[in-house]
Amino acid sequence: MTYNLQNRRYIGNKFKLLSFIDSVIETEGVEFSIFADLFAGTGVVSEHFLSLGKKVIVNDNLYSNFVFYQAWLSNGDFDQTRLNKLIHYYNTATDFIIDNYFSDNFSNTYYSYIDAKKIGSIREHLESIRPTLTHREYYIILASLLYTADKIANTVGHFEAFLGRQPIIKGVELQMLNLQKYKYAPDIYQKDANVLAKDINADFVYLDPPYNARQYINFYHLLENLAEWKKPSVIGKTLKMPRKEKMSQYSTASAKEALFELIKSLKTKYILLSYNNTYVANSGASINKITEQDIVYILKTMGNVKKFDTNYRFFNSGKTNFDNHKEILYFCKLK
Ligand SMILES: C[S@@+](CC[C@H](N)C(=O)[O-])C[C@H]1O[C@@H](n2cnc3c(N)ncnc32)[C@H](O)[C@@H]1O
Repeated sequence: MTYNLQNRRYIGNKFKLLSFIDSVIETEGVEFSIFADLFAGTGVVSEHFLSLGKKVIVNDNLYSNFVFYQAWLSNGDFDQTRLNKLIHYYNTATDFIIDNYFSDNFSNTYYSYIDAKKIGSIREHLESIRPTLTHREYYIILASLLYTADKIANTVGHFEAFLGRQPIIKGVELQMLNLQKYKYAPDIYQKDANVLAKDINADFVYLDPPYNARQYINFYHLLENLAEWKKPSVIGKTLKMPRKEKMSQYSTASAKEALFELIKSLKTKYILLSYNNTYVANSGASINKITEQDIVYILKTMGNVKKFDTNYRFFNSGKTNFDNHKEILYFCKLK
């Protein structure tokens, strides 16, 4: 058993929309060699373009996502035999398992005590052997641990809440990642998109920012905590670490200004921007911070704008059921 890149629960991931994105590129006859994915989340969109032989710039402001790009998408060296041995050790040995930061804080909430103790012990052990591993090997094992911690969590898929029932022991089993080889190694960043935008040149920029007050760091604080392993104090019912500097401007009242500033600073020929109405707006936090009218207004200051949505004839493969939610892509060819 191995993990695939898309085997992650991540709100707003665009795995099912790749053919929709491709259809817009084809319809518009877009030719490009450098693709930039500034709010890359899982990295599925970047991976898609890497696999098509494009040069890719991939970025997200969360460290856990940076870890995934290093593991899945970079071209760093790794020794498969050494990784297999290490995964086997973590899956079968018990001599390294002791009480730790993770079991002290997350037992009987997101995980059973047994599972939390093992997750934290693997994390601790991995840090202790870091100098003996290549960069890529370290990130691959860490990514595998994060995927496992996501898979077995006592949640509906994010860490804004855990399920009311007592977590059962699920077992912590790491799996190797199903890694692919790409023509070019991507440039990988963990930056604020607005800062990075000023420093890069690309032919084609894909923008998929958050659109409402729900902060990604709040959804995925536990994975970020496990990835960083700085062992901060956690507070509140959902056991979050301090995370002020990871809050996104795109989930605040200044989202529109942030998007305008970002788009103005891009050096590119084409922009593709995702928008959706996934959330049923039954609470203030779910109402989109940037309206469709704002997006069109901002993009029109830069060039010609076309709107494509999932009801559009280009997306009729019938494989994906979008029920009530509509995915929209705004395509802008810059002047
Ligand atoms: C809608 S998700 C992107 C999903 C992605 N396209 C995928 O397929 O997985 C938005 C992402 O933007 C990131 N983000 C939020 N604010 C950011 C900022 N100012 N700079 C960079 N990334 C940011 C979040 O961490 C989140 O991963």
